[in-house]
Amino acid sequence: MKDSLDSGKCKSLIFAALEARKKAYAPYSKFKVGAALLTSDENIITGCNVENASYPACNCAERTAVFKAITMDKKNFEAIAIVAGKENECIKDYTSPCGVCRQVLREFVDPVKFKVIMAKSEDDYKVATLEELLPLSFGPDNLA
Ligand code: THU
Repeated sequence: MKDSLDSGKCKSLIFAALEARKKAYAPYSKFKVGAALLTSDENIITGCNVENASYPACNCAERTAVFKAITMDKKNFEAIAIVAGKENECIKDYTSPCGVCRQVLREFVDPVKFKVIMAKSEDDYKVATLEELLPLSFGPDNLA
């Protein structure tokens, strides 16, 4: 699954995601997630999960990053890094985005080109395209 996304860029994105994860508001699941979105103009926009006492109102880290980006008038993205795990524990697993986040990303990217970096650390990660994670997807072109 690993491919040509520059390893320096991956490391920078993962570092930003790890920093964002520290801000996660996850008092219910205690599962803290950080995400870092790389824009085509080389900006990094981060997000964390934000939970709510009314559980369905929780927002994932990936969507927080995308919605922040749109608010900043950034709509072209190359990659996203995701780090996640229980609070006060080291990160044990590679976490891939949930179905809703995959669909939200799909709105703005070419699924064949966009990279999803699922990381345990800056040196231990997997890369997949959005097309691999969300095949045969429905997107803006379907409504054109
Ligand atoms: N979560 C994310 O932020 N991103 C994912 O990719 C998976 C799940 C959050 C939502 C919720 O706050 C917690 O993790 C447990 O599901």
